[in-house]
Amino acid sequence: MEKIKQQIAEKIKSLDSFAALEEAEIIAALEPPADSKLGDLALPCFKFAKTLRKSPQTIAGELQSAFIDGSLSSVGKIEAVGGYLNFFVSPDYFSDVLGGILASGAEFGRSEEGVGKVVTIDYSSPNIAKKFHIGHLGTTLIGNSLKKLYEFTGHKVVGINYLGDWGTQFGKVIAAYKLWGNEKALEERGMDELVDLYVKFSKESEENKELHEMGKQEFRKLEQYDEENIALWKRFKEISLKEYAKTYELLGIEFDSYNGESFYNDKMQAVIEELKEKKLLELDNGAYIVRLDEFKMPVVLILKSDGSTIYATRDLAAAIWRYNEYKFDKALYVTSAGQSLHFAQFFKVIELMGYDWAEKLEHVPYGTYSFGGEKIASRTGNVVLLNDLFDDAVKRALSIIEEKNPNLENKETVAKNVGVGAIIFGSLANSRIRDVNFNWEEALSFEGNTGPYVQYSYARTASVLRKSGEVSQTNEGEYSPDVNEIALIKTLSQFPVKVGQAIAGNEPSVIARYALEVCWAFNLFYHNNQILNAEDACRSFRLSLTKAANTVIGSAIDLLGMGRTEVI
Ligand code: ARG
Repeated sequence: MEKIKQQIAEKIKSLDSFAALEEAEIIAALEPPADSKLGDLALPCFKFAKTLRKSPQTIAGELQSAFIDGSLSSVGKIEAVGGYLNFFVSPDYFSDVLGGILASGAEFGRSEEGVGKVVTIDYSSPNIAKKFHIGHLGTTLIGNSLKKLYEFTGHKVVGINYLGDWGTQFGKVIAAYKLWGNEKALEERGMDELVDLYVKFSKESEENKELHEMGKQEFRKLEQYDEENIALWKRFKEISLKEYAKTYELLGIEFDSYNGESFYNDKMQAVIEELKEKKLLELDNGAYIVRLDEFKMPVVLILKSDGSTIYATRDLAAAIWRYNEYKFDKALYVTSAGQSLHFAQFFKVIELMGYDWAEKLEHVPYGTYSFGGEKIASRTGNVVLLNDLFDDAVKRALSIIEEKNPNLENKETVAKNVGVGAIIFGSLANSRIRDVNFNWEEALSFEGNTGPYVQYSYARTASVLRKSGEVSQTNEGEYSPDVNEIALIKTLSQFPVKVGQAIAGNEPSVIARYALEVCWAFNLFYHNNQILNAEDACRSFRLSLTKAANTVIGSAIDLLGMGRTEVI
């Protein structure tokens, strides 16, 4: 459309009586009318009434006559209506747009915009010795989609799983293990054993002060690199990672770095020294803090009075290390909105330390996830685990497929893509800051605004193409697209813009909603037209259109982190 706006502006500017207008102001004024039946672009002539000293109606009328010579081939019909000049873009123009999409093929929507730029994405980051539960679903899926989006636009992306592999919870698990655990149970039950130990310990220490002390003591020993405790910690970490790997494999997620919290143990002292040197550190009741009153934020605790360091200190050390290592142009942190204050504080401290790259740090918050309206608790045994969640989704998808298409080959693979995809799509379909409440029936329906609907539409495009044999390029000029076809081409042509918007807002939901729009437009076209049985030029055009839809829906599915399914 930009090209057409430019052509219209040039044409108007070239008319003697309109020379007083600037091309740029004409381009800026051109917009799609609210009702698409009125045209593809509208020029509100009242904007020029003052400069030209004519009524909007007169301007619109004069322009309409001036355009009558048909010198603009991209514009078909022009109408002057109540001071507006409405342009109908010619169907041939859309054939050209379609040709452009097909020529780009799978590259359509990709760009080189980010070449030479590095983006680190800190995401997923579960806490070891605790299970991977639905509280980490958002960060895992949003982070993964953002990684794909940035790569799609040429950025170099470093995906970082900042494992919660250090902290007082290890003192508790170690203490619990020493009290009640044994290697045999660990070997046999793995993560379940660890979680049971942790849960039991948390519960009992609520009433038993001694236990509470014991947990602290064991953590202190760990911090002093006590050999036995370090060995246990390593064992717990190994068991946890093995468990998480199952989920990552199912989702096709790979990280470039697993440098978790423990990686920064020996890098925090330098930060504390630096804060002292820069006169940011203050002693407060035996603890070291940084004050942020001036910025209307609570103090940041840097070093507890017992000498143990905390979350913020570690994040400071990690950001500094990462900047030195990757020289990032952007560092994203994907966590629930509950941590917004933490990030605002720690970004501020980096800024106060005088690092000009502080502005490259960005928190990407999201809302809470719940099932059937219930919030997810984390410290109790009563949580929705990601493995169970995905298993359940795949099972449910399988039973729907058994019913719909019992003879389907590779039912298991299809069920995996559909089930897992339903959760991914359900998680990414709305602005990330909104709360997500899962409802199985809704998420797995093939008819709503869902993952299965998008995958089904994709499979439909694939099926048409399979049955058609070779798809030749569009036969330009020989067939003029109808309204539904034009609507689909218009929607498809927006893909690069949508990718840009998704990145600008770090919002995978832009792609999810766009995928739905393409599917709606495709299905409308599909239901209203014969494709395979159409005649020559028309058949070839419709197949090209189907191919373009297949490419765009496929790319959108990839960008969301779902798996493509050719047949459902
Ligand atoms: N492990 C943390 C949690 O589960 C998330 C870590 C987020 N990243 C960070 N750099 N603080 O809450």
